[in-house]
Amino acid sequence: MVLVGVALEARGAGAVDALLGEFARRSVQRGHRRADLLVVADNPAALRAYERNGWRDGGAAGAGTVRYLLDLAPG
Ligand SMILES: CC(C)(COP(=O)(O)OP(=O)(O)OC[C@H]1O[C@@H](n2cnc3c(N)ncnc32)[C@H](O)[C@@H]1OP(=O)(O)O)[C@@H](O)C(=O)NCCC(=O)NCCS
Repeated sequence: MVLVGVALEARGAGAVDALLGEFARRSVQRGHRRADLLVVADNPAALRAYERNGWRDGGAAGAGTVRYLLDLAPG
């Protein structure tokens, strides 16, 4: 399990893009084909960050969360 977060003092500068890019790079390197996570639906900054980084909305996952999916082996 991985928790995604950026230190308070570093927020708003795009650090999450580097974090998610590195996560995807290491996941591909380890042979993973897909990643998924749950995010609180009322977290617009996180939702925008995932969508900007190629994750797609996989639908409501209960308890106010949304599942987000990342395809690591397109085509
Ligand atoms: C969600 C999170 C990872 C985003 O990381 P980040 O590196 O700050 O992301 P960004 O730089 O893209 O900024 C996020 C938004 O906050 C805005 N913002 C600007 N200054 C900010 C500040 N000082 N603090 C927080 N957000 C700020 C940005 O403009 C941006 O808005 P946009 O999406 O309309 O462009 C980070 O806010 C975080 O760690 N939150 C707490 C943990 C969390 O919610 N994790 C996700 C759980 S799945």
